[in-house]
Amino acid sequence: MPELTWPGKRLTESTPASLITEAVVFPRGQGYPSDQPRNRLLQGDNLAVMRSLLPEYEGRVDLIYADPPFFTNRKFHARIGRGEDSRKPEQWKLAEGYQDNWDGLDAYLQFLYERLALMTRLLAPNGTLYLHLDWHADSYARVILDELLGPDSLLNEIIWTYHGPSPIRTAFNRKHDTILACVKGPKYTFNADAVREPYNPSTVKTFASSSKAGFGKIPNLARGKVPEDWWYIPVVARLHNERTGYPTQKPEALLERIILASSNPGDMVADFFCGSGTTPLVAARTGRRFLAADETFRAIHTTRKRLAETDASFTLERVSAPSMHFASTTIRRASETTFDLRLSDESIHLGNSADVDYWEADPDWHGKTFLSADQAARPARRGEIRRELNIKVGRRVCVRLVTVKGQRFQVELNV
Ligand SMILES: C[S@@+](CC[C@H](N)C(=O)[O-])C[C@H]1O[C@@H](n2cnc3c(N)ncnc32)[C@H](O)[C@@H]1O
Repeated sequence: MPELTWPGKRLTESTPASLITEAVVFPRGQGYPSDQPRNRLLQGDNLAVMRSLLPEYEGRVDLIYADPPFFTNRKFHARIGRGEDSRKPEQWKLAEGYQDNWDGLDAYLQFLYERLALMTRLLAPNGTLYLHLDWHADSYARVILDELLGPDSLLNEIIWTYHGPSPIRTAFNRKHDTILACVKGPKYTFNADAVREPYNPSTVKTFASSSKAGFGKIPNLARGKVPEDWWYIPVVARLHNERTGYPTQKPEALLERIILASSNPGDMVADFFCGSGTTPLVAARTGRRFLAADETFRAIHTTRKRLAETDASFTLERVSAPSMHFASTTIRRASETTFDLRLSDESIHLGNSADVDYWEADPDWHGKTFLSADQAARPARRGEIRRELNIKVGRRVCVRLVTVKGQRFQVELNV
C-alpha cells in the first residue's frame, strides 16, 4: 500500500494531560442531578487531552468529527462587536481566534498524523471519523487515513459546497470543502432514514408525468432520498441567528446531518477541535453524549455559552489552573473592577451588565469544584444578557463572570 512520508514522521507516546475539573455546569437552573454528567468540555492541546482520555474511552467513541486548521497559514480572529458594517473591517472589534500558521507542510502533517492516530484509537469498532479539510491538505490526509484505518475505510468523500464573496480573479472561486468520512469496520452505523430529504421538484414532476421514467426503478417519492455526497449548505453568515462570531464556525445543519446519519441517541460523539462548539451543541440537542475539546479559552467559552441553552449538563475541565481575577461587588470593594451584584433568597441580580458576556453562579460554594446552577449569556447578535439568576442561595455564593473581551472574574459573597 502506498504511504505518505515526510521528514520527522513518527508516532510518539506523548504525555497525557492531567485534567482539572474547573466547573460542573447544570444548564438553565435545573438544579443538581445526583449523577455526574457524562458530557465533557475540555480545554487543552488535544494531543495531551486525547491521550488522557484513552484509558476510559479507547474504542468507545461512536462518532468523531474533526475540523482542524486547514494549513491556510493564516491567523483567524473572532468578532466580538455587534451590528458592524461588513464592508469596513478596519472598524470591527476583534479578539484572538486561532492560529493556522506552520513551519512548512512537514510540521502540519506531523500535527495531523499524531492526532488522527489517537482519534482512530478512540473510535469504536462501529464508529465513523469525519475529517473536514479543504484543498490545502485534503489529499495528503486521505493517504494518512488509508494508513491509519486501512484502504477500505473510506465511506464517503463529501463535498460541502457554499457560496459567498471572494477576492479571487485568477482562478475559479474556491467554494467547497472536503469531508472524508472513514469507518473503522464493516458494521458501522449509518441511519439512512434519519437524513432523507425531499426529491428535487423536477424529479417528482418527471415521475408524475411518465410511468416509464428513470432506469427501471420507481423511487419512493414520499419517503424522500438519501442525500448525495455533495451537500449545498450555506455558510454561517453575519445575519444568521446561529452565528457566534467565532471564526470558521460550521453550520448546525452540516453537523446535524453527520450526527443523525452516523450515531444513535445515547452514543458518544467527539470533537477535539470544537471551536465554537457546533458539534457538542447539535449532539446535545439530538440526545447524544459528547466529548469536546479546544486549546483556546475563547473557543471553550463560546462553546459553553451555546451549551448553556441546551438541557445537557457537562463538566468543564482544563489542563492547567484557570487564571481568574478576583473582583469586588457592591458588597465587597477590593479592586477597581466592580460588579453590582445583589442577592435575595431566590435569585442573584446583576446591576451593571454592559460588558458582561456570560455569568453563572454556584449558590452553595465550598471553594472546590464550581457547581454552576444557572447561567446567562449575552446573545451574539442582539438582545441583552439576562440579569437575574434564579437560584436559591446558600451560605456562601460564588459568581463567575466573563467580559466580552474574555476577562474572567470570580466574586465570592457571604450571605
Ligand atoms: C476550524 S476551527 C473549528 C471550528 C468548529 N468546527 C466550529 O464549528 O466552530 C479549528 C479549531 O481547532 C482548535 N485547535 C487547533 N489546534 C488545536 C490543538 N492542538 N488542540 C486543541 N484545539 C486545537 C482551534 O483553536 C480552533 O478552534
